[in-house]
Amino acid sequence: MDLNVVILAAGKGTRMKSRLPKVLQPLAKKPLLSHVLETCFGLNATRVIVVYGHGGDQVQDTIARQFPDKPIQWVEQREQLGTGHAVKQALPALQEASRTLVLYGDVPLTSEDTLTRFLNQVTPGQVGVLTVRLDNPKGYGRIIRDHSGAVREIVEEKDAGDEIRKIQEVSTGIMLADSMDLQAWLPKIDNNNAQGEYYLTDLVKIANQHGVPVIGSLVDNAIEVEGVNERRQLARLERLYQRHLADQLMVEGVTLADPERIDIRGSLHAGQDSYIDVNCVFEGNVTLGANVEIGANCVIINSTIGDNSIVRPNCVIENSTIGESCEVGPFARMRPGTELKQKAKVGNFVETKNSVLGKGSKASHLTYLGDTVTGENVNIGAGTITCNYDGANKHKTLIGDGAFIGSNSSLVAPVEIGAGATIGAGSTITKAARENALTVARAKQITVEGWQRPTKKK
Ligand code: UD1
Ligand code: CA
Repeated sequence: MDLNVVILAAGKGTRMKSRLPKVLQPLAKKPLLSHVLETCFGLNATRVIVVYGHGGDQVQDTIARQFPDKPIQWVEQREQLGTGHAVKQALPALQEASRTLVLYGDVPLTSEDTLTRFLNQVTPGQVGVLTVRLDNPKGYGRIIRDHSGAVREIVEEKDAGDEIRKIQEVSTGIMLADSMDLQAWLPKIDNNNAQGEYYLTDLVKIANQHGVPVIGSLVDNAIEVEGVNERRQLARLERLYQRHLADQLMVEGVTLADPERIDIRGSLHAGQDSYIDVNCVFEGNVTLGANVEIGANCVIINSTIGDNSIVRPNCVIENSTIGESCEVGPFARMRPGTELKQKAKVGNFVETKNSVLGKGSKASHLTYLGDTVTGENVNIGAGTITCNYDGANKHKTLIGDGAFIGSNSSLVAPVEIGAGATIGAGSTITKAARENALTVARAKQITVEGWQRPTKKK
């Protein structure tokens, strides 16, 4: 049977005290709703329907940009009259012969495994409720089971007496039912309760009235069904999620100096025996080869680093490709389009942008390389600057194999340095430098005889 998913995301999220709609609040730099959507896509749902209310345009724009090729249906709930009312708005969008899974836009960490297990436990024709046992069940809907273990009813905290409030098994809100049954039963839900809301959870009572069994499926990891209502919860989930990602890396054979001090905001894949020191941040898609070492306090974004390379502390690397056995940093900044070939080296206070450093080439200190292509075994002296920008356009610098650029040189692009060329320190190079020759472009040193330093006036 086809699976439809309805994600409730109409709540305002007042307690976040934010201008951003709650479901767009970031967990690992990704909106809460995106986490839920990604899980949905993993379940191969044929329809994904998001019920929105507050900040609808902003939510739709952000999500559409993130999942451009996913058909997501948007249904507006103008007034938030309760979870039952919210799902009712989605009824016209449901397929006839399907099951509908109800998820929440502010519950980001429900795993695909847990939901798959839930989908398998509940057979078509039955109703399912995902439940969890909490030490402190305050605020949640309590699960009432009969002697056979079937769920008879869900009673919201505000409608519950003292006896029922003692029950520790609660509803996570996540439910599953045949779409046809939802079509028939949701219009029957009323709002005669303590909160004057249309409760989706009342579906359980109605199913029982129709002799339809309601399966309570217990999750053991409470984090998976935890919702975000305020920023302290968001921070807590962020830490738990990060710890989960760190554990996955360690299982794959990566050593972490401290699994509590790594942040992965995207996906990080790393080969065996790689080592990551404390306080590193990885964003977007990052791939590290085997035996890679990342020093403390590095930020690495959408980049690939080859086997046996070392990134020393305090580097920022973005949209770059670093080959095998390279050395980078400390304090290097690689801007987008940087490529280091095998055994290349970029040292401290070097900035690179849209530049290739060939095999075995080095820029060890205090350099800017922009729009530069360097051959093999080039040595770029300390303080070398490629002047790639004339105030209007960018130009290229080409440096041939085995060239040696003396310290504190300026290479004014467009310019070409021949293979094996040597550039004298302090040169400002504006024309092509011949291969295998020494080029010096600086004022001649003179000595002024008899010159005296000025003295202080009295
Ligand atoms: C709900 C359940 C409760 C369960 C708890 C788990 C009901 C009646 N109660 O209670 O049994 O223990 O979740 O967290 O379902 N929403 C809308 N439109 C609305 C109302 C809510 O989209 O009109 C969305 C909210 O944005 C939120 C979610 O539904 O993401 C849950 O709503 P909320 O009002 O917080 O339900 P709870 O009282 O927590
Ligand atoms: Ca809630």
